[in-house]
Amino acid sequence: MLKRPRRNRKTAAIRGMIRETQLSVENLVQPLFLVSKETSREPVKSLPNTYRLGIRETLKEVEDSLNLGITNFILFPVVPDQYKDKFATYSHHEDNFYLKITAEIKRRFPETCLISDVAMDPYSTDGHDGLVRDGKIINDETLPILAKMAVAQAAAGFDLLGPSDMMDGRVGYMRQALDAAGYTDTGIMAYTAKYASAFYGPFRQALDSAPKSGDKKTYQMDPANQREALIEAALDIEEGADFIMVKPALNYLDVISLLKNNTETPVSAYHVSGECAMLIAAAEKGWIDLDQAVQETLMCLRRAGSDVIITYFTKHYARMMKQGYQPEERKEPKPHARKHSSKMPAFITNYKI
Ligand code: PBG
Repeated sequence: MLKRPRRNRKTAAIRGMIRETQLSVENLVQPLFLVSKETSREPVKSLPNTYRLGIRETLKEVEDSLNLGITNFILFPVVPDQYKDKFATYSHHEDNFYLKITAEIKRRFPETCLISDVAMDPYSTDGHDGLVRDGKIINDETLPILAKMAVAQAAAGFDLLGPSDMMDGRVGYMRQALDAAGYTDTGIMAYTAKYASAFYGPFRQALDSAPKSGDKKTYQMDPANQREALIEAALDIEEGADFIMVKPALNYLDVISLLKNNTETPVSAYHVSGECAMLIAAAEKGWIDLDQAVQETLMCLRRAGSDVIITYFTKHYARMMKQGYQPEERKEPKPHARKHSSKMPAFITNYKI
């Protein structure tokens, strides 16, 4: 045999030298669920280790995360029912607690990158991302509502706005509204290829934002389609998106790599709640090792072409790194003694450092 690929896997040093993909906490974004309370830390039942946080706990969480090297956060509001209406009015109301907490995080921790959620569902009595009339999601009349939400979020200090609604034309509409209001530096991370997925379950429970009737299949993409993602990407980029996103992540690695190879815009992957919950559940049963599974999953998302990964494991991974987690134990072959052998030439043994 002239070619033996195993030679390049012989030691941790060789594997390290030729590793094609790097993963760092810098690539990761931590989602946070915010509630309108001074102090609160309620666990999300369907997603262990994730909490709905009050104002005080949110600020503490951001501070702790910064100490672990995490700078990027995507924020979602848990909106009390009494603030919901058909038009998601509360989303751009001046008393909106989500906007207020954001401004406070930015004031205390200006080094953070804060990403918003632009969609009607957390604020809507219909639980849909757009305006509902006669059971239909109305595209064009949703756009001005999203634009108002976007401008209010830019004013609060978000660095990037995340339209997750999948209405046609929303990126361009938002971009114009932002520029007209003077927010030319606020970026847009567009949910470009967002699929109608079964894996959003824990998130909808966390936010209490499930649709009251019907499903989201007339606006979110069909999981059967790949090429359609290219149409969405071309539109979002033309309309001014600074990032494009694929969501969910693991069942859609082909889509991540398609967008990476066909565009120059940075690609984000949203490793969604249901995908994270599956790993935690299997680990709780003792079926997989969580640290190894998290490291492998995030590395594979990078390999497929994700520049940025939004994952509920951001803090878990940052902690693993802080505690010195080594995916490769560098102990083979046996470490040799650092003593000089008597057989060494004199010019080496006599050399004083
Ligand atoms: C809704 C939104 C959803 C998620 C992010 N924004 C759910 C949905 O489309 O119903 C899901 C994220 C996750 O599951 O982690 N605008």
